[in-house]
Amino acid sequence: MARPRTKAASYCSDPDTARMTLRMRILGAAAGGGLPQWNCGCRNCNLARQGKIPAQTQSSLAVSGNGRDWAILNASPDIRIQMAACPELHPTGPRTLPLRSVLVTNGDIDHVAGLLTLREVQPFTLFATAGIHQVIADNPIFSALREGVVDRSQIALDTPFELAPDLTATLFAVPGKVPLYLEGETVDTQLIGDQTVGVELKAGNQRVLYIPGCAILNDDLRTRIDGADALLFDGTLWQDDEMIREGLGQKTGARMGHMSISGPDGSIAQMADLTIGTRVFVHMNNTNPVLRPDSDERAEAEAKGWIIGQDGLEITP
Ligand code: MLT
Ligand code: MN
Ligand code: ZN
Repeated sequence: MARPRTKAASYCSDPDTARMTLRMRILGAAAGGGLPQWNCGCRNCNLARQGKIPAQTQSSLAVSGNGRDWAILNASPDIRIQMAACPELHPTGPRTLPLRSVLVTNGDIDHVAGLLTLREVQPFTLFATAGIHQVIADNPIFSALREGVVDRSQIALDTPFELAPDLTATLFAVPGKVPLYLEGETVDTQLIGDQTVGVELKAGNQRVLYIPGCAILNDDLRTRIDGADALLFDGTLWQDDEMIREGLGQKTGARMGHMSISGPDGSIAQMADLTIGTRVFVHMNNTNPVLRPDSDERAEAEAKGWIIGQDGLEITP
């Protein structure tokens, strides 16, 4: 029987309707640094400061399998403002939240620094692999997430677990590197282990993949991605030498553990033959031309079937 729709029983919070749908809201579409980045005078950062292109906060995604219970994938340094801007995550009582858990996909600053904001004796589960938990445990400042309040749950690769009620997740290895602040003399930029992971989400009959950082698309990943209802994928750079061209440093995307979007080895070409319901780029570096809505590069990506993520965008698989 159809229920009368009031504001309180909107699509977002109607449990009957929402139960069937995996919901995702991009909290932050930019890579580390955000757009604009505090110290960057590149074209995009200047345009964002002038309000001529939309600013974007740092890498994070909110997900729910039922519209009531939510998880946050990656705790960005911007999490405070991101949660304030997302009605689904607002408190429903004095200390009652729809947030059940936080999951981090690597130990990079843009994905863990926001944990410090979540320190107000608020219970939730922090999910990560053993390797990523170790990185967090090694840094005593994170003991601000008090033992006995925040449950730190170690997740083995390729093992499904309940991320939130009605939402199952599985972590899988993605080629990448250790966080910048843990790099030694030599760095394996395509390391496969539990330091960089992707997330497979399942709710109802939907299967969605979240891979915000990926150095190279190997056969395991291609197999996993094929047939997904939605993919949110590493869109850090348009081209590998983008930051060098802009005069912003000497690092290539490959050195940073990120495959680029364009070119024959890029993500658009490499996934052209895969069946994917909805393709979305996330984790864009502030130099990426796709962040300019009127750029040729954005038009090209969209023509090839990709959505350019942006803050607040809801993705429906
Ligand atoms: C990355 O995604 O490459 C890192 O988050 C860079 C950084 O540490 O800022
Ligand atoms: Mn990052
Ligand atoms: Zn910039």
